[in-house]
Amino acid sequence: MSDITSIKDVFRQTEGMLRGVGIDDAFTEARILLQHVLDVDGAGFLLRLDDSLDPRVKNTIDEVVRRRLRREPLAYIVGHIEFYDIDVIVDSRVLIPRPETEILVETALDWLRERHGNPYIVDVGTGSGCVAVTIARHCPQANIVAIDTSRDALEVAMQNIDHYELGGRIIVRHDDLLRNHELPIDLLVANLPYIPTEDIHGLMPEVRDYEPRSALDGGSGGLHIIQNILLQARDFISSTGALIFEIGFGQAAEAKALALRHFPFAEIRLINDFAGVERILAIHLVDDENP
Ligand SMILES: C[S@@+](CC[C@H](N)C(=O)[O-])C[C@H]1O[C@@H](n2cnc3c(N)ncnc32)[C@H](O)[C@@H]1O
Repeated sequence: MSDITSIKDVFRQTEGMLRGVGIDDAFTEARILLQHVLDVDGAGFLLRLDDSLDPRVKNTIDEVVRRRLRREPLAYIVGHIEFYDIDVIVDSRVLIPRPETEILVETALDWLRERHGNPYIVDVGTGSGCVAVTIARHCPQANIVAIDTSRDALEVAMQNIDHYELGGRIIVRHDDLLRNHELPIDLLVANLPYIPTEDIHGLMPEVRDYEPRSALDGGSGGLHIIQNILLQARDFISSTGALIFEIGFGQAAEAKALALRHFPFAEIRLINDFAGVERILAIHLVDDENP
């Protein structure tokens, strides 16, 4: 790469290298990596395409491209990702928020729109805090506890909570599911690990080799952690409350059966993701459940 001087040339070469290792949208990723290093937006990038590169900047570009060629996720390299309508700070301590989880948020907001008062919400397995922060921004009357077993993840969640100045309404808590929980919950939202242990080795390298195993592994069959929280949650969900979970491909029937076992009188709904996969399990308690 030593003869390359213009941004346009480096861009073309970066795109070629990324494509060469099988990265699908090499064009977009090359542009995002270069924009990140050059600290410009899309328009600024186009304006600078014919500029020559300072050798120190070129070294920095080489370094980030090398990281991506080793299949480190783009979001970890640039340090943030869009989720719903916010920008979430991420690094290797947290799962990278996925588009499917936006449906979890939308389902929660739909439920909240029909409530009055000040809902008390618990986000279990908060990771980056993306779900808690998004819900808090759209539901200004909500108070949220964001729980995770990973202290590292909670540090990242705090960064996002502080960034959106939500520290007054979101409290982070280091805990194992609801083990030390005490108060009645109006809404429980959870994107807990649900990938079957036996499937982890077959994941894309970006996920398998870089994202925290503790954010992925749902035990044998994948529903182990969700089963545990369903059991615990019976003691905390208020009589007209709701629980909303993200689940994995092919898990809907078993997850629904588990939900019915623990909440036999609840209304249970499954909501599809953009690919038609039943991705969200929503459990709505109704008053006559506790006559
Ligand atoms: C799939 S990630 C989801 C992160 C974030 N909510 C999101 O949607 O992007 C699951 C998170 O659950 C946490 N976790 C795993 N087991 C847990 C447990 N027993 N109690 C609380 N959190 C747990 C992991 O540390 C991880 O941050």
